[in-house]
Amino acid sequence: MKLLFLASVLVLAYAKHEEYIGWKSYYVGPSTEEQVKSLHELGTQLELDFLSPPHVLREAVVLVKPQYQEEFTTNLDNLEIRYRTHAEDIKSALDYDDEVIQDWTRTITKDGAKSMPFNNYQRLSVIYAYMADIAARFPRIATLVTPANSFQGRPIRYLRISTTNFTDRRKPVIFLDGGIHAREWISPPTVIWAIRKLTEDVTEPDLLNNYDWILFPVVNPDGYEFTFTNTRFWRKTRSTNTHASSGLCPGVDGNRNYDFFWNTVGTSNSPCSDIYAGNRAFSEIETRVVRDILQTHRTRIALYITMHSFGSMVLYPWGHNGALSQNGLNLHAVGVAMAEAIQRNSLSYFPRYVVGNSALVLNYRASGAAEDYAHLIGIPLTYTFELPGLSGGTQGFNLNPRYIQQVCRETWAGLIVGVRRAGQLF
Ligand code: ARG
Ligand code: ZN
Repeated sequence: MKLLFLASVLVLAYAKHEEYIGWKSYYVGPSTEEQVKSLHELGTQLELDFLSPPHVLREAVVLVKPQYQEEFTTNLDNLEIRYRTHAEDIKSALDYDDEVIQDWTRTITKDGAKSMPFNNYQRLSVIYAYMADIAARFPRIATLVTPANSFQGRPIRYLRISTTNFTDRRKPVIFLDGGIHAREWISPPTVIWAIRKLTEDVTEPDLLNNYDWILFPVVNPDGYEFTFTNTRFWRKTRSTNTHASSGLCPGVDGNRNYDFFWNTVGTSNSPCSDIYAGNRAFSEIETRVVRDILQTHRTRIALYITMHSFGSMVLYPWGHNGALSQNGLNLHAVGVAMAEAIQRNSLSYFPRYVVGNSALVLNYRASGAAEDYAHLIGIPLTYTFELPGLSGGTQGFNLNPRYIQQVCRETWAGLIVGVRRAGQLF
């Protein structure tokens, strides 16, 4: 019986990822827009799978099937596009990743953290139940706050965590938010993971004891639920404030709605656009709630990070014009330290993190973003994380749930470093 079980496990392990036998991945570094275009064309022709989009400013990672590898390198040679091998053997990279993931799955079971399932993306009700459970089990440190209801009437909720008394205002505050963009499903779990690491599974007591925390996993609950019930790739809120007469095209892009050079660049006036800025700054209750947290604790928030996906990037102000802030050097140094820690805890197969100014790294400018607003009002270290997503296009938002724990773990590794550095600088 036991032997049979063992044998079947071995066969299963052997049969895994078979479709990737012989696949390779490459870094590609186009240096002109024309080369980027050629890569896109080649992508269709050779069924290339870009793990990150081709870009003149950063190397992309692309998966190439065995039957196309020769044609791929010949084409790139002819087009004079730089490339080098990323993974010689995708299958063994995936097998290795599986081992790591399985190891972790065992640890999490041992921890006894069963109340929040990280093996799949969860509905709002599960997330809220977990937050309520934490508040009930750790009443002396965790406080559940419901400052308002969403446009559609759902509670907007976050947790405050403090080993002393949050309202004493003694310690620097670390503020993490997620889920402002509804479809970026990997974002809320990384914030929920932080809740776990400060209550159920404390391995860095200094992070718990020396800081007060605001952990806000789902800023945009209406949009988040809508991605489960209706449209998987919905990004915005679900408000219809601005055009009651038409009733068409609900939703405002939360990350264009902050009062930072509002609606001046990289935004739209059309309610139907995915980057609609709203009819005024802070038209949305969801962004007003974040604003009020930022304003209330402005003088003691040492670090604010808003979690997005995807792109494997650590981004900092100013995102509307690419200029560096007064604190640019610290923003960069702490950003790099976080990215390096993430990288050390990452998988061979994940794209490398890039750190830099939002507008420059993204190659587009956008006003009204949270990270810029927070920095404008005086918070010294503010970042947008673009968490990993595998495969390009909309697929990137749809990161396979098998990677949720991986991303949470590596992101937490980055946060540990970021929080300590923020504390030293504060
Ligand atoms: N992908 C995010 C967005 O477009 C990134 C925002 C980065 N920050 C910025 N200030 N542009 O909303
Ligand atoms: Zn986003």
